[in-house]
Amino acid sequence: MLGGVAAVGLSATGGAGYAALVEPQWPALDEVEVPVRGLSAQYDGFTLAHISDLHRGLHVSIDAVDRAVRLALSRTVDANVLTGDYISGSAEYAHSCARSLAPLTARRPTLACLGNHDHWTDADRVSRVLADVGVTVLRNAAYEVNDGLWIAAVDDVWEGHADLEGALEEVPDSATVVLLAHEPDYADQVASDGRAALQLSGHSHGGQVWLPFIGPPVLPYLARKYPRGLYSVGGMSLYVNRGVGLIEPAVRFNCRPEVAILTLRAA
Ligand SMILES: [Fe+2]
Repeated sequence: MLGGVAAVGLSATGGAGYAALVEPQWPALDEVEVPVRGLSAQYDGFTLAHISDLHRGLHVSIDAVDRAVRLALSRTVDANVLTGDYISGSAEYAHSCARSLAPLTARRPTLACLGNHDHWTDADRVSRVLADVGVTVLRNAAYEVNDGLWIAAVDDVWEGHADLEGALEEVPDSATVVLLAHEPDYADQVASDGRAALQLSGHSHGGQVWLPFIGPPVLPYLARKYPRGLYSVGGMSLYVNRGVGLIEPAVRFNCRPEVAILTLRAA
């Protein structure tokens, strides 16, 4: 009996240690084929490296950011996309985070949106620091990444800064649009608008803890409907990245940090 109690105690301690110390430092490179409505044949196979929720700060070291960047650089892709929450607690962390991200921009166009944590610290400063290393930060704006293929982004939804009309203002009707929006549940609104063929998001961290048969015990506001992975929302595809970093409680279980390599497929 005592042996059984000790075993349960040891495995609980081991599980907590694993969730606090091992899994958060163990990023996965997830390769996903994403159907994109109306994508022309010339862009079938277009690839994006997708990084989200770095949360550089007290709980996320620069080593964790560097590891994610190395994973992204390990594949040849056409562009990088970053979906917000670069820092936690202070915009000071944006400088080291941006320096780590700089190698991405040296090779490929790198487009980004902002998240709620960027706004909760200093969105203008985070934005400026990222721009200084060559990241194109889109705040209700769009960028033609290739002829007829646009990447647009809304500013943070939670903080009330998202303006889909503004983001798509310059995009021609004939274009294929990939929309960056930090909060995934915004997809319902984007899908009903009908102009974006794909939305890329983060924010949920996949729940950080994903219990077998139960799922995530806690999900943040605006990430409860679409917590992780690939969805079809009213004919639009949505991909929700589990993110690189974390917030308190600083654990991950059955929900490894993620760098995604997305291959767009004509659908
Ligand atoms: Fe967030």
